[in-house]
Amino acid sequence: MDEAIRTLRAVRHFGPDPVPRTTVEELIDAARWTGSARNRQPWRFIAVTDPALRGDLSRLGSFAVHLAAAPLVLVLATQDNGFSDTEFDMGRVTQSLCLAAASIGLGSCPTTLHPASNVTRAAELLNLPPGLLPRHAIALGYPDPGNAPSPNAIPTGRLALPDLLTWRT
Ligand SMILES: Cc1cc2nc3c(=O)[nH]c(=O)nc-3n(C[C@H](O)[C@H](O)[C@H](O)COP(=O)(O)O)c2cc1C
Repeated sequence: MDEAIRTLRAVRHFGPDPVPRTTVEELIDAARWTGSARNRQPWRFIAVTDPALRGDLSRLGSFAVHLAAAPLVLVLATQDNGFSDTEFDMGRVTQSLCLAAASIGLGSCPTTLHPASNVTRAAELLNLPPGLLPRHAIALGYPDPGNAPSPNAIPTGRLALPDLLTWRT
């Protein structure tokens, strides 16, 4: 039952096949049912296929280089309304999107755009209306079968259950 969660890995290398527009719409249509605090639904999405724009976005984070070669970059924009639950909500919708993507064979990698000046630059490049902040993006595409998980400095694996769970009985 939890296989989808256990097997979801970050994918940063993709094959050349595009992600069809209808598929992107299906992903968003599923993810929009994610619950959010007070049902504010603070998420907006910008689907980017333009290679030049993807290249620009790939330079707006410390570990965002994979955005340049991903067939689709789904930018996540948040309403900058000061609600403390917004980041929590964005994490939830991101997980919904990544799980939905994996269920149809798509690889994904959440990606941070930062620092704040780069978020501002991304908003300019994307022509976002005032008040929307593109702090994150998700690289999406069909995993490149010939390319093993990307070598990088980020440790893999997970903390063990005893490290995570304590009881007070
Ligand atoms: C909020 C968030 C931001 C992330 N930002 C980046 C990023 O900027 N660059 C990147 O390569 N991976 C990024 N990741 C992916 C994580 O590095 C990845 O989920 C973690 O290392 C576990 O990878 P694994 O599931 O393949 O073991 C991000 C993940 C999350 C949830």
